[in-house]
Amino acid sequence: MAKYRIAWMPGDGIGLDVMQAARLVLDALELDGEYIPADIGWEFWCREGNPLPDRTMRILEESSCGLFGAITSKPKDEAIEELAPDLRSQGLVYRSPIVSLRQRFDLYCNLRPCRAYPGNPLNYRDDIDLVVFRENTEGLYSGVEFYPLPDAVRKAMREHNPAMARFDNVPAAEIAISLRVITEKGATRILRKAFEYARDHSYRSVTLVEKPNVLRETSGIMTRVARAVAKEFPEISLWETNIDAQMMWLVKNPQDYGVLVTSNMFGDIVSDLAAQLVGGLGFASSGNIGDAFAVFEPTHGSAPKYAGQLKVNPIAMLLAVRLMLDWLGEEELSTVLEQALAGVIASGEVRTYDMGGTSSTIDMAQAVIRAFP
Ligand code: IPM
Ligand code: MG
Repeated sequence: MAKYRIAWMPGDGIGLDVMQAARLVLDALELDGEYIPADIGWEFWCREGNPLPDRTMRILEESSCGLFGAITSKPKDEAIEELAPDLRSQGLVYRSPIVSLRQRFDLYCNLRPCRAYPGNPLNYRDDIDLVVFRENTEGLYSGVEFYPLPDAVRKAMREHNPAMARFDNVPAAEIAISLRVITEKGATRILRKAFEYARDHSYRSVTLVEKPNVLRETSGIMTRVARAVAKEFPEISLWETNIDAQMMWLVKNPQDYGVLVTSNMFGDIVSDLAAQLVGGLGFASSGNIGDAFAVFEPTHGSAPKYAGQLKVNPIAMLLAVRLMLDWLGEEELSTVLEQALAGVIASGEVRTYDMGGTSSTIDMAQAVIRAFP
């Protein structure tokens, strides 16, 4: 029996393309793994009304970890239109299966490294080495949304804050509310992960990216907890920043920052900006990490217009494989993979279209394999 059981979830769109590259590389690395295909994505929503079928949850429960490609998400009304006709009137609601996975397996830490590899023509600068820690289970992704607005919620808001009276005349069907839920536990565990990572990888600071001047309570918890956790790591400075200004500074002086930590939606936004500084989503990988389970994925989406053409850059996916190898404790294989990727990027002989080249997804995977020692 193989040492690792890896739930294999290509999803849809270019998820299938980049996972082909991942498989070539894993086979060449000879990881002692068994890859269990698991259904996830748009096609299962359309056919079964559930993009994350129970059978997939069971495969995941019996796996060491999961590797995920990409999935298509569409807004509410379009999602209903694409359902099989007999499912359309059942009041089904499309929820992004990757967001469900993060919550159902309590994968609270979203780790998103963004490093400028030398020779990448898309680098904004060559000295960028950012790592975003995004809280992955709460915040604006908690899934607590109201529409149309129930009377009880309106009443509670009014009692809580008399200034809410300005919404009194807004009809229930003309107002929607999404809640930003932050718990002390959620804040503590993501902050601790960020500080531990900074300590273990010799970063001297951790930057908290929030907005406590406006989101007094939720960003307030993040700030309080950050200060408390920082005390456990006297060798690392805590820099408290507001997200708006921090985005400007990241564009101005990205080389000045290292570990960034933030809540879920801010992290979603910060991580795309950080990705663009080092070549865009073709270079951005994520680990969704809990205490005992993890799912690794490229940060990019399913890019349907490129699906099946084996044209997109698989580097983000291969960097996700590398994060998986790290998490499994396969440090040697992880180093082999990262050095090969760095070598291929530096040589510039094989470049996908986003890098100004004409190489295919598979060409890139094969070049990485050729660069193994
Ligand atoms: C990401 C993606 C997801 C998110 C989408 C696909 C739901 O943008 O992983 O950053 O918003 O978290
Ligand atoms: Mg995102």
